[in-house]
Amino acid sequence: MPSFANPFQGNVNRKMTKQELIQAIRLDIASELEAIFIYDAHVQATDDQIAKRVIADIRDEEKAHVGELMTLLRILDPEEAEHFLEGEEEVKNMLRELGIETEAKQGGFTIGSLVDEGKEKD
Ligand SMILES: [Fe+2]
Repeated sequence: MPSFANPFQGNVNRKMTKQELIQAIRLDIASELEAIFIYDAHVQATDDQIAKRVIADIRDEEKAHVGELMTLLRILDPEEAEHFLEGEEEVKNMLRELGIETEAKQGGFTIGSLVDEGKEKD
């Protein structure tokens, strides 16, 4: 949600350390995810086709921002990137145990490929 009421909310009066930058990127990712959630709720809540199209386009741009920030986070914190890969592997193993085949995208599974998988079942 916007926090414009405090005009100094996002100001940092010094350069951040690398660890603070990593924390800031995590907050940025959370903000992008929240924006996606809100835009998607608005798309679902209106029948106005123009508004649906415009807001859905903005929502999808926010998804690209998540990808950019996640890539940046992996670069800034390679150890965290290893944990992400561990999580990916755990899910891949679960899918294998369930006998579910998924299309592998560059670098493994993507959120989009899992979403597409879910749409086929709806
Ligand atoms: Fe964004």
